Amino acid sequence: MNSDIEKILVSQEKIKETNVRLGKELTKDYADKNPLFVCILRGAAMFMMDLVKNVDIPIEYDFMDVSSYGGENTSTTGEVRILKDLDTPLSGRDVVIVEDIIDTGYTLDRLIELFKTRNAKSISIVSFLDKPARRIKHVHVDYVGVQIPDAFVVGYGMDFDEHYRNLPYVGVLKPEVYTTK
Ligand code: PRP
Ligand code: MN
Ligand code: MG
Repeated sequence: MNSDIEKILVSQEKIKETNVRLGKELTKDYADKNPLFVCILRGAAMFMMDLVKNVDIPIEYDFMDVSSYGGENTSTTGEVRILKDLDTPLSGRDVVIVEDIIDTGYTLDRLIELFKTRNAKSISIVSFLDKPARRIKHVHVDYVGVQIPDAFVVGYGMDFDEHYRNLPYVGVLKPEVYTTK
């Protein structure tokens, strides 16, 4: 295990099992809809690529880069910036937003509002992690992977200051790592 990690919250086995379960649910709910899966970079990239391999129907996917946390901050500002927009028109599409984590809810709240103005036919959310303790915007998450307590987590796509995204599990960062940097 990486020495900056205090403990593992979601193991590789649990990640696999969660992706299989979510993939089955989405396969059932989106048969014949040709949904557009929208990956919110960069955190959701690893989850997205595992998830879609478990979705056994025709789909399309695209990527969007938004950011709410800046650099060294471990809490959100409430601002969501679009760094890279989608290339795919959303009008008439069944959209599945793929996120790694919902924390305050600002990111997803803003994206839903935006996608509605683009006339998506339907919008649902799949989030690998849900941290309900810190919610400010009460967004409905249709597909939740794992609920976690209020800890600063990294790995499986999630970063602290752009590091740890490549860890194959979700771990809790040792507090001394983010207080001394
Ligand atoms: C993180 C995470 C979610 C969002 C959740 O992304 O990946 O997208 O914050 O927080 P919220 O519910 O409080 O809005 P971040 O903005 O750090 O960008 P990243 O995915 O590139 O790391
Ligand atoms: Mn993100
Ligand atoms: Mg981040």
